[in-house]
Order: sequence, then structure tokens, then C-alpha cells
Amino acid sequence: MEKEEKKIREHFLVNFDPIEFYDFKLGSLSKDGTEDNYDFWFSCLYEFFTTEKIDGERLLDLGSGPTVHNVATASSYFSRIVLSELVENCCEEIRKWLRKDPDCVDWSPMLERVAKIEKRKDLKAATKEIEERIRSSVKAVIHCDVVNDQVIAKEYAQEPYDVIMSGLTLETAAVDLDSHSKIIGRINRLLRKGGKLILFGPTKTTFWKVGDNTFHSFPIDVSDVQKSLEENGFGDIRFKLKEQPDNDARYNSDKLYFVTSTKL
Ligand SMILES: C[S@@+](CC[C@H](N)C(=O)[O-])C[C@H]1O[C@@H](n2cnc3c(N)ncnc32)[C@H](O)[C@@H]1O
Repeated sequence: MEKEEKKIREHFLVNFDPIEFYDFKLGSLSKDGTEDNYDFWFSCLYEFFTTEKIDGERLLDLGSGPTVHNVATASSYFSRIVLSELVENCCEEIRKWLRKDPDCVDWSPMLERVAKIEKRKDLKAATKEIEERIRSSVKAVIHCDVVNDQVIAKEYAQEPYDVIMSGLTLETAAVDLDSHSKIIGRINRLLRKGGKLILFGPTKTTFWKVGDNTFHSFPIDVSDVQKSLEENGFGDIRFKLKEQPDNDARYNSDKLYFVTSTKL
């Protein structure tokens, strides 16, 4: 298992390009602005953060890629957000965005969708506001490796997190269900008791293609995610599913899932 995990990690380290991924993501958005996969996940995140009263201010996002949009709604509630990612070039792209470097990528098309879900009237103004909100809440962008027992550097793991989230990442790093369960076990150790774990992604995905590179995905199903969470000390497990994802030629999936759980 470890040999296979290392092979996948090496493939990411050599071939995962933040700009190609950015193009892939924006290319996946529905052209007419109607609901798509990300609107489903953004709506779930909005509903979760606006209805749950979560104590604390520390949130960790695992496998951020070069993106900032998954913590957009959370940035209203958490003032100490850490973004983390395996590929250093992705971390650097986020840092460029935080600094507003002139050549940074533009996440406004995604953030405008968040603004719409937040029921804002002036979408352009709200998007700018959300950008500034994220910039002020994100305190660090760090290296992470979910298949390594030391997932993040010790200095960032000393104090447990109140919330940990990860989107479209665990299934791509895991080789099988055992490997997925071990990742959840490592995440558990970074979270405080009573803290929340939020995971989302596609089910039964077997591949996704960015530029000329095809990336692995362990074709996980809802019952597998449930099993990994239960095996590793999580309860109050609540799923939301989107039955018909907007697939295109560059990836496949059966459903989309969004799950929240509590460390017991
Ligand atoms: C499909 S992308 C998702 C990025 C982002 N969360 C999003 O929603 O767009 C998967 C990410 O997982 C990262 N990844 C792959 N293996 C990893 C590992 N072992 N530890 C942490 N991140 C990993 C990749 O570098 C990539 O950024």
C-alpha cells in the first residue's frame, strides 16, 4: 500500500500544474451560469456554516490545490484559517493570490458563485468583499501530505483544529479503502474532541485529466466514506448527495457527496 501511495504522490509532485488545474476548473463551470457541481458543494458549505454554531477560530483545509474558494464561506466565521497542499507550486500560487501579485490567478468566477449562494445582491461588490475576507482570515499556506503520518509540520499541529475540511483530495491520494481509512485516522489526530470534519467530492471516480496528465482516483462510494469515518472515531455523520453530476470528458463520477461529522 505504501509503495502505491508513494507512486501516486510522486505523480502529483512531478505532473500537477497549478495553472493547468486552474484552467481545468474554470473550464468545468457551466457556461450559462446555471447550477453545476461546485454550486452544490458551495451551497452545502453555506448551509453548514450558517446553521451550525461552531466554537473556535481555527480551521484547516487539506489539499487546497491552488484554490481559495472552498474556505470562502468559512472565512466569515473562522479568523485563523490554514490552507495546505502537497505541491509547493500550488502553495506558491495561493500566496501570490493572497499578496495580490499582478500575475496571480483570478478566482473571482468561483467566488462570484459563492456570493450568489450567499444571496448577495451586488455580486461584483460582494465578490471583492469575499476576496478580502479570505485574505484576512488565511494566516498560513503550508505543505501537507495526507499519506504521511506527520500530515503537516509540527508547529502547525500543536494546537488542535476546530474544523478540518478537505474537498476532492482524499480519494485522489488514497489507493484503496484501507489507505482512505488511515488518512481519516491521521486527520482525527489533528482535530479537537467535538471538532467537525467536512469532506466532499465525487463518488466512483476512476480518473480525472488535467492538461496531458491523467490522475488517479480511488472510486470511493458513500458507504466507504461512512465506514472510514466510523472506524476512526467520528459520529453524527450527515451526508448530502447530488445524484446527477455535470460530468465531462475530463473526469467521471456517479454522484457528488458532502459529509459532515463530529470527532467523538
Ligand atoms: C482535485 S485537487 C482538489 C483541489 C481543491 N481542494 C479543489 O477543491 O479544487 C486534488 C488535490 O490533492 C492534492 N494531493 C494529492 N495527493 C496529496 C497528498 N498525499 N496529500 C495532500 N494533498 C494531496 C493534489 O496536489 C491536488 O491539489
